[in-house]
Amino acid sequence: MNKPKRYTVTAALIYANGPIHIGHLAGCYVPADVYVRYLRAAGEDVAFISGTDEHGVPITIKAKKEGTTPQAVVDKYYGIIKKSFEDFGISFDIYSRTSKEIHHKTSQDFFVKMYDKGYFDEVTTEQYYDETAGQFLADRYIVGECPNCHNPGAYGDQCEKCGSTLSPTDLINPRSTFSGSKPVMKATNNWYLPLDRMQPEIEKYVNSHPEWKANVFGQCQSWLKQGLQPRAMTRDLDWGIKVPLKDAEGKVLYVWFDAPIGYISMTKEWAEQAGKRWEDYWCDEDTKLVHFIGKDNIVFHCIIFPAMLMAEGSFILADNVPANEFMNLENDKISTSRNWAVWLHEYLEEFPGKQDVLRYVLLANAPETKDNDFTWKDFQTKNNSELVGIFGNFVNRTTVLTNKYYEGVVPEKGELTDFDKQTLETLAQLPGQIGESLRNYKQREALAGMLEVARLGNKYLADTEPWKVIKQDEERVKTIMYVALQITATLSIVCEPFLPFTAEKLRKQLNLEHKGWSEAGKDDLIKTGTKIEEAELLFEKIEDSVVEAQVNKLLETKRQNELEGKEVTPLKPEITFDDFAKLDIRIGKILEAEPMPKSKKLLKFLIDDGLEKRTILSGIAEHFSPEEMIGKQVTFIANLAPRKMMGVESNGMILMAEDKDGSLSLLQPHKEVWSGATVS
Ligand code: MF3
Ligand code: ZN
Repeated sequence: MNKPKRYTVTAALIYANGPIHIGHLAGCYVPADVYVRYLRAAGEDVAFISGTDEHGVPITIKAKKEGTTPQAVVDKYYGIIKKSFEDFGISFDIYSRTSKEIHHKTSQDFFVKMYDKGYFDEVTTEQYYDETAGQFLADRYIVGECPNCHNPGAYGDQCEKCGSTLSPTDLINPRSTFSGSKPVMKATNNWYLPLDRMQPEIEKYVNSHPEWKANVFGQCQSWLKQGLQPRAMTRDLDWGIKVPLKDAEGKVLYVWFDAPIGYISMTKEWAEQAGKRWEDYWCDEDTKLVHFIGKDNIVFHCIIFPAMLMAEGSFILADNVPANEFMNLENDKISTSRNWAVWLHEYLEEFPGKQDVLRYVLLANAPETKDNDFTWKDFQTKNNSELVGIFGNFVNRTTVLTNKYYEGVVPEKGELTDFDKQTLETLAQLPGQIGESLRNYKQREALAGMLEVARLGNKYLADTEPWKVIKQDEERVKTIMYVALQITATLSIVCEPFLPFTAEKLRKQLNLEHKGWSEAGKDDLIKTGTKIEEAELLFEKIEDSVVEAQVNKLLETKRQNELEGKEVTPLKPEITFDDFAKLDIRIGKILEAEPMPKSKKLLKFLIDDGLEKRTILSGIAEHFSPEEMIGKQVTFIANLAPRKMMGVESNGMILMAEDKDGSLSLLQPHKEVWSGATVS
């Protein structure tokens, strides 16, 4: 498109059903914020829109899990999510929610307009229905066996084990998640968007954007190649936006119908507050619409929502959908259910004031073209060697020396050497290059360009050595410090999209007002005579022990998950009472305990059973020491046929319970009883 008049930038409306983690930040929200902060600095007119998605099955399922109502769930998480974004400097112009009245109305009007234009097909289908709960079972309301990998817990829309997309009728032995009962088929009618008939228009739209990122463009092509299918835009549910038609009792809009319309209704809300015209941001061909999302949302933003917008007819279509791939954590997929994540609120408690460090590391590893990995070791390395070692080091040396030599006053520049001129020329070029990368969604490249400014500064100081020259040529040092200060000032502008908190600190240290991107790179950005503040560290080193603690926390999570994943042994076949009565189970007291020579596993016990002292061998040496067993009461089987092991006869068997992690626990009477007590 030609140079846009303005930008509408959206970030995915996240489900309000849980707190957010680094995967969300890396995939969508930090990239969106970087883009918007740059555009604003470049003087563009931008609306940055997001909020929570408060409808759909994910919300109701969470409510069920927490034993509360969907409304309580969305109210709770809206606040938590909004705060996390604020804490990490995600600078939305509005952060709203799809439960707002204006959103209900906007979505219903949208639906009615499409309906009136004849865009929906009313179709009757047989759907699974839970008779006990009186409820149709869409998506995640139904579980059963996956036809592909035979995972017994696959959902009606997806098997999380093998990743295949399913529909409820694919499941083997389907069960309702409400009652556990076997669902029946029941006829229902819903309104379908005829994506099949719209395929030519959609194809034209997608194909007009070969510049989209390869992962995005490729996914769209594969959908188009398979041939688009009609898709129901309504659901038989009671949580959501009511279908605005007669005869639509008990039906709501499909969550993926109403949620993206949220971008429009939230823009309306913002425009009202900000004194703008919302139509400028949605109905003007000269506005550039950009959706930031994670890769699991591609089809909805590149195919289904554009189809809705085309059908409705009054809106512009996205110019780009720069979706990122996923960020993994320590080589494993981030997962809420397995608690395999770094939660933002926890990060903030453990690393207060270090939001920019996380932003930096997530951007440096941004999963732009493929899934990427966040590791704590890498977090430490990037912080220590790049933020502390390069960025912080340069700024610190410059501010310390300026304070030391000139009491913090920016000196006059004298004659420039060729090297000074070369350095200033490079400096003048970098902001433009960084901006170009940012406009092209190449944020890792842009970030590297930002660090290049600090590198340039370090190299300049290392080559000019003002701390040595000061002894022979005080005049020359003034020029050197003047140049170094110009680099610092440019850094304060170009780091702002990535490191907004640092940028602000740096501006304060330099007593520099907030300047636009076009000023960056100039050789008189900070003027002679400006008084700067005392040096203050921008970043601090992260010690080994700190990252080790984080890794240990994750290892503990892994251990817990393994325990939880362990399955209960299936029951043995039934026995009669007589079978049971044959067992003679008794309580005895351990008198002596010793290891068996040459055996790692066996301990030898002498047990007082009330009648006599008997020897029992037990394979528990890896779990208990002989000393800790002496004097303990144990439960044992007294009439087991004697058995010889390593030359010693064992007369009975001590009973133990095995815990999930394989550790053993003695079975003891809950109060001490006499030796010889029988158990029945
Ligand atoms: N709620 C969806 C998710 O968290 C994203 C919705 S994006 C929107 O995956 F376009 F629908 F708003
Ligand atoms: Zn499967």
